Amino acid sequence: MTTKIALVTGANRGIGKEIARQLGQLGHTVLVGARTPDGTTAAELAAEGIDAREVRLDVRDQASIEAAAKEIEAGHGRLDVLVNNAAIIPPGDNGVPEVGLDVLREAYETNVIGLVAVTQSMLPLLRKTEQARIVNVSSELGSLTSVGDPASPMSEMRMLGYNSSKAAVNMVTVMLANDLRGTGILVNAADPGNCQTEMGGWDAPRTPAQGAAVAVAAATLGADAATGGFHTDGGTLSW
Ligand SMILES: NC(=O)c1ccc[n+]([C@@H]2O[C@H](COP(=O)([O-])OP(=O)(O)OC[C@H]3O[C@@H](n4cnc5c(N)ncnc54)[C@H](OP(=O)(O)O)[C@@H]3O)[C@@H](O)[C@H]2O)c1
Repeated sequence: MTTKIALVTGANRGIGKEIARQLGQLGHTVLVGARTPDGTTAAELAAEGIDAREVRLDVRDQASIEAAAKEIEAGHGRLDVLVNNAAIIPPGDNGVPEVGLDVLREAYETNVIGLVAVTQSMLPLLRKTEQARIVNVSSELGSLTSVGDPASPMSEMRMLGYNSSKAAVNMVTVMLANDLRGTGILVNAADPGNCQTEMGGWDAPRTPAQGAAVAVAAATLGADAATGGFHTDGGTLSW
């Protein structure tokens, strides 16, 4: 069987690094997307027996995205798995009455436009393989159902930039799944749950490895699996 090639954005730390590790443990060659690659993550994973290489990829820098696609094409000729993991909660994120419009733009530039830009550039490489998988790392905070439920703790998380950008990521997922239906490429969103990272807070209930496992499951779905879903631990979430 040919080794699968997987690209994970924002894989130098947090959940992204764990996604890279777990895909590597499954035998994939992992391309660790990082804004400022310094070799540390690839070396850490290589020491565990994982075939990992770092690729410079700033999701807000179109030139770096195109250069990464060229590098992957030259090195591997294709891409089997794309995990769009990189995201931010912009400083100052807040509810609708208070949030700064520049804060909203920050969230959208990285979490939505950056994700679409990476996906567009990698799509030709994903089309070159059978059964490619695209996973968009989303959040329950992007679920209209959860945030709209006053009984849910999600309804108290007043971060318009982050929450609405993740809702947009969910729509990107559904629309791309429709576009690619019948091609063998499955597109799914994954909610890692609240994990111990810089973003999630170090006192969060879940480990980054637990969160990563949700994305890895979606990245390794079999041929008969569904596309256009919102995956969480052992099940699906309402949009
Ligand atoms: N942690 C949670 O509780 C939680 C819950 C639900 C969903 N999520 C989602 O899980 C994913 C990973 O989150 P995390 O908790 O691991 O966050 P994190 O620890 O803050 O890591 C974020 C990663 O994204 C990268 N990144 C940010 N802006 C980037 C850009 N312009 N280009 C490329 N990379 C960029 C960061 O790189 P630098 O090191 O260069 O900043 C870092 O590698 C995100 O999509 C997040 O929304 C997290």
